[in-house]
Amino acid sequence: MRTVYLNGQYVAEDAGQVSIFDRGLLFSDAVYEVVSVLGGRIIDETAHMARLERSLAGMTIAYDVAAADWPGILATLIEANALEEGTIYLQVSRGAADRDFLFPAPGTPPTVFAFTQARKLVDNPMAERGMRILTRPDRRWGRRDIKTVQLLYASMMKMEAKAAGVDDVWLVEGDVITEGTSQNACIITPQGHLVTRDLGHHILPGVTRLSLIDIARASGITVEERPFTIAEAQGAAEAFVTSASLFVMPVVEIDGLSVGDGRPGMETMALRKAYIDQACAHP
Ligand code: PDD
Repeated sequence: MRTVYLNGQYVAEDAGQVSIFDRGLLFSDAVYEVVSVLGGRIIDETAHMARLERSLAGMTIAYDVAAADWPGILATLIEANALEEGTIYLQVSRGAADRDFLFPAPGTPPTVFAFTQARKLVDNPMAERGMRILTRPDRRWGRRDIKTVQLLYASMMKMEAKAAGVDDVWLVEGDVITEGTSQNACIITPQGHLVTRDLGHHILPGVTRLSLIDIARASGITVEERPFTIAEAQGAAEAFVTSASLFVMPVVEIDGLSVGDGRPGMETMALRKAYIDQACAHP
C-alpha cells in the first residue's frame, strides 16, 4: 500500500480522506501537477513548481508554494514508496466550505495532497509503434493555460479514442490544432522544422514542450511556435506529442491518414532519446 501526502501528514493511501465540501470536488476549484520520476529523481522539478505557482495565481488560490517545501515532500514520497520510475500527482484546492459559488472567506486552508504512481516511462511500447490519433473539436474552457482539475472533456475524448480503437485525440478549433487531451502537439515539417502551437490561453504551457524546444534549438533544429492545421500535420514528415508522462511520443496516424511513412520518425526518436538522456543527466 502506498504512502500518500495529505495536508501536512504522510498516511496510508486508504486513510487519506477529504471533506465532501471540498471545492475541488464540488467546483473543480483546484489545480494540479504531474511530475515524472526517473532513477528515483524528479525531472524538471523547478519548472513544474513554477507552473503550479502560476496556476494558483491564475485561480487566486492563496497558497505559498515556496513555504510548503515541495522538494522535501516529493523526496519523502519517493523514499517512502521506493519509487524508481513513475509519476507523482499533486493537487491544491481552494479548500472546504459549505457549498456556495462564491469563494470562501480568505484564510480557508487549501486542501493539498500528493501520491505516487509507479510505471514504466522509458520502456513504453507505444514509442516503438507510435500513436494513432483522431481529431475532435476543442470544447474545453478558455483558460487552458491554467492546469485545473477540470478534465472531464479530456477524459471523454480519451474514451472516444479508445472506442474507435486508436490511442488519443488532438483537439482542434476550426481546423487548427490546439493540443492533445493531455499532451502538447508537435510536427516536423518536410523542411525539418519543429512546429508547435504558440503559447496563450488556448493551450497548457507544457514543461516537456519547453525543455524539448531548448533541446531542439541546441541541436540546430529551427523551431516555429505557431498554429498549424490538421492537413499540415497529416502532410508533415513526422509528428509527436510531449508530456511529463510520455516524454516525446511519436504520432504515426491522424484521422486515418499516415504521417510520413506511418512509422515513428527518426527525428522524433532522436529527440526522445535526447530528452531522456538530459532528464537522466540533470533531473
Ligand atoms: N498532462 N496539455 C495538457 C492539456 C496536459 O494535460 C498536459 C499534461 C500537457 C503536457 O504538459 P507537461 O509537459 O508539463 O506534462 C499538455 C499531464 C501529464 C496529466 O494530466 O496527466
